[in-house]
Amino acid sequence: MGLPPTVDGTVRRITVLGTGYLGTVHAAWLAETGFDVLGMDADSAKVGALSRGVLPFYEPGLEPLLRSGLKSGRLSFTTSYAEAAAFGDLHFICVGTPQRAGSYRADLSQLHSCLRALGTLLDRPCLVVGKSTVPVGTAELLAERLSVISPAGAACELAWNPEFLREGHAVHDTMRPDRIVAGVTSARAEAVLRQVYAKQIAAGAPFLVTDLATAEMVKVAANAFLATKISFINAMAEVCEATNADVTMLSEALGLDPRIGAAALQPGLGFGGGCLPKDIRAFMARAEELGVEQALSFLREVDAINMRRRARMVDLARELAGGSLRGQTIGVLGVAFKPDSDDIRDSPALDVAATMHRLGAAVTVYDPVALVNARKAHAELNYAGSALEAVTSADVTLLLTEWQEFRDADPEELGGVVAKRNIVDGRNALDPDPWRDAGWTYRALGRPY
Ligand code: UDX
Repeated sequence: MGLPPTVDGTVRRITVLGTGYLGTVHAAWLAETGFDVLGMDADSAKVGALSRGVLPFYEPGLEPLLRSGLKSGRLSFTTSYAEAAAFGDLHFICVGTPQRAGSYRADLSQLHSCLRALGTLLDRPCLVVGKSTVPVGTAELLAERLSVISPAGAACELAWNPEFLREGHAVHDTMRPDRIVAGVTSARAEAVLRQVYAKQIAAGAPFLVTDLATAEMVKVAANAFLATKISFINAMAEVCEATNADVTMLSEALGLDPRIGAAALQPGLGFGGGCLPKDIRAFMARAEELGVEQALSFLREVDAINMRRRARMVDLARELAGGSLRGQTIGVLGVAFKPDSDDIRDSPALDVAATMHRLGAAVTVYDPVALVNARKAHAELNYAGSALEAVTSADVTLLLTEWQEFRDADPEELGGVVAKRNIVDGRNALDPDPWRDAGWTYRALGRPY
C-alpha cells in the first residue's frame, strides 16, 4: 500500500468528516495535539458557527479547545469535499448512524454518501478511518467500495477506530481514553494510527490492534453491555418496589464488588441519548441478518425494562396526583437525556414530560441548557426560565435529569412556590430525608416510601 503519503513518512494533515459531538471533539483535540486539521460538514450553518469559534451544541470544555485550534491556525472548517480530499493524508469519518425510521436497523445513508463523495476525489495514497458506530461487516464492504471508487485505487486504505466518548465528558474521554482500538488491514495503517494517538499511548492508554470486524464489534458490544447493566439495576428496582427494598443501597452494595463495579449501575429513569438505545436495536437487527438473533434476544428485554421505567415514572406521578393527570399542573426539572448535555435524542425525561401532557396535564419544564432543543421537538410543553419558575403552582414536581443544580435544590425554597409538596425523583438523585422533613411526599423509582 502507498501509505503514508508525506515525504518523511509522517502524517500532518488530517480531515474530520462530520462535525457532531464526536467529530468536533476529535478535530479540536487533533489540532491541539499539533496536526493541521480540516473539519468538513455538509451543514453550512454548523461550519459557519464552528469557524467563528461557536459550538452548535453544548459540551463542557470544548469551546476553549475549538478556539485555541482556530487561533493557532491549525484548525479550520469547510463544507467542501474537494477541499477535504485535497487537504488530508488521513481522513476520519465521524458522521451519524441513527436508527432507521420504522426499523431497528441503523440508517447508514450519511456514511455511504460521505464515503462516495470523498472516495471519488481521493487521487493519492491515504488512509480513511471510520469512527462512526456501524453494524459489524460494514467496514469490510466500505473498504472494497473505496478501492473501487477512488482514483488512487488500492492505495486508499480503510481502517476502523471506534470512539467511546461520553457526551458531557467528551473532552476528557478523548484526551484520556480507556483504550484505543485500531481495526486495520495493514501494518502501515497501524503505524499511522499509532502516530495519531502517540500522546495517549505514551500516557498509558492500551492500543489494541484488531481486524475490521472485531473493531466494529468492540463498540456495539460495549454499548450493549452498558445498556444491559443499566437495565439490570432497573430490573432490580422493579423487584425492590414490590418488596419495599431500596435499590440505591442495593446498587451501592453491588458496585463495591470489583467483579461488578459501580459504573453504569445507577438506577432511575433509564438510558436514552443518541447511542445506547439505537445501538442495541441495530445490534439486534444485525444479529438477525447474520442468523444469530437468539444470541442477542436478551437485548429485547434490556430495551423493554428500559422503556418500562418511563411508564412507571408516569404511574408514580399519577398516584401522587390522586389518580388522574388530567388538569394537573406538573413541574419538570430536566429534559436532556443526561446532565451536562443539551442532547434530547431519545431523552427519557422529555418522553415522560410529553406523555404527561398527552394525558391531560399542564406541563412546565426547565433545563439548564436543553430548552432550545426541547422546544423545537415539543412545542406543546410550557418552558420556564428557572427551576423555581417551572415548579411554581405545581401539583407534582418531577426530577428527570440529575443536573447538579437540581441535586442542590432547597426543599424549602421549592416548597414555597409549589401548590403541593409532591416530588418524584426519577434519577434517585436526592436525599429523601430533608425533603420529607420539609413536608414533601417523596417518591422515587425502586425506593421504599
Ligand atoms: C454512551 C457510552 O457510554 C459511550 O461509551 C458511547 O461512546 C456512546 O454512548 P452517552 O450516550 O454519552 O455514552 O451516555 P452515558 O453516560 O453512557 O449514558 C447513557 C444513558 O444512560 C443516559 O440517559 C444516562 O442517564 C443513563 N444512565 C447511565 C443510567 O441510567 N444509569 C447509569 O448508571 C448510567
